[in-house]
Amino acid sequence: MARGPTPWKSSCPDVPAGTMLGEYVVRRRIDAGGMGTVYAGVHPLIGKKVAIKLIHPHVAQNPENIHRFKQEAMVVNAIGDPGIVDIFGFGEYEDGRYYFVMEYLRGERLLEFLKRHGKLGAFAAGQLLRLLALSLAAAHAKGVIHRDLKAENIFLVPSNDGHWPPRTKLLDFGLAKLLEPFEGAEQPKTRQGITLGTPYYMSPEQCRGKPVDARSDIYALGVLGFEMLTGRLPFIHEDLTEVMHMHLREKVTLPPSPDRPPLLDELILGCLEKSPEDRPQDMHEVISALEMIFPPLAPMSMRNSASDTDAGGPQISTPDDDDSGPLQTPVAPPPESGPAPGTPGGADAAVVSPDAPSLPHVPSETLRVAPPPPPPGPVVEVEGAGRGLGLFLSGFFLGLLLGMGVLYLIMR
Ligand SMILES: Nc1ncnc2c1ncn2[C@@H]1O[C@H](COP(=O)(O)OP(=O)(O)O)[C@@H](O)[C@H]1O
Ligand SMILES: [Mg+2]
Repeated sequence: MARGPTPWKSSCPDVPAGTMLGEYVVRRRIDAGGMGTVYAGVHPLIGKKVAIKLIHPHVAQNPENIHRFKQEAMVVNAIGDPGIVDIFGFGEYEDGRYYFVMEYLRGERLLEFLKRHGKLGAFAAGQLLRLLALSLAAAHAKGVIHRDLKAENIFLVPSNDGHWPPRTKLLDFGLAKLLEPFEGAEQPKTRQGITLGTPYYMSPEQCRGKPVDARSDIYALGVLGFEMLTGRLPFIHEDLTEVMHMHLREKVTLPPSPDRPPLLDELILGCLEKSPEDRPQDMHEVISALEMIFPPLAPMSMRNSASDTDAGGPQISTPDDDDSGPLQTPVAPPPESGPAPGTPGGADAAVVSPDAPSLPHVPSETLRVAPPPPPPGPVVEVEGAGRGLGLFLSGFFLGLLLGMGVLYLIMR
């Protein structure tokens, strides 16, 4: 997948292994990205593995932005969505760089996954998009926008049983905010300037430097959907400014494929509309559309979602004093049935990649509640008839005795 160069790489000296960052010991450098350098660390006493991101100094140039980022990290943690990486530490390294401590993730980024697999089948893409949309909806409900949704910022963590679909984890929530220019700051002069970040997923309003809302994340989700279905980005150019011009002006078209439900194409292209007003207006609209296109994606009875909780559905109880945040190993979702033949996703079930097999179809019979045993009608009737006959006979003999007594008295 051709992409432009990473705009910026860290030139800061590495943090040596053995250094204490807060409560954690640095073990090794994992890699550097556009926003920071990530290290693997461990808690020396309890052995908990963590990932520590040291934010590049140019990213964290504005103290006000750092403050907002910390607040967003707090809000996102308060949501406790299992699809958003858990952040549980924040600090400043001796050289002045800020860092945050997050859960260590096994698995690989969607970027690497797509590089290996090319593209995904429509149903597998629908599964991932829905998981991402659910986590984004939870964040949007708290007023937090991701702003930098891209394949590099999505981790695929193997499910507990190792079967498809994996769990999705969103990284770098609100981090893009740190790149926003602030008053009095010198504006970047280069075309790959620091405020640009990665423009491949940028919404037109972001490209214009306008304020963004949840619909900007919907645009980026559309880019991700396009990428999953085709194995490439909608707009590619070596000149990153040109990529932004394309987002602003060029119409997106999906190469036709008989393996995709037309409604899925419509949804993805709808997310990629230039004007936010023409896109789905919130993530719940996207989720409903995906569940309508692929009925097996719709929750069957016990989805652990906010809407079910609101409706008084089943809930997992947590102790009152539990402030430990989201589970490190969230329970795998209940098995969903595979696309049933004849559903829009059914035709696609055969084209998902080998690593993305649809789950086995659960026959609907197994989901039905067994009917209660028939009421023991005849037995009750026989019993009733027996009791009635007994009453009748005792009445008859009582009457007979009384009659005989009266007759005896008269005759006397
Ligand atoms: N929580 C994490 N657990 C494990 N590895 C991580 C975690 N976060 C990031 N990484 C790895 O660290 C490297 C740099 O992260 P990246 O997201 O590219 O940085 P940036 O956001 O600064 O661009 C990548 O190889 C990524 O896979
Ligand atoms: Mg990142």
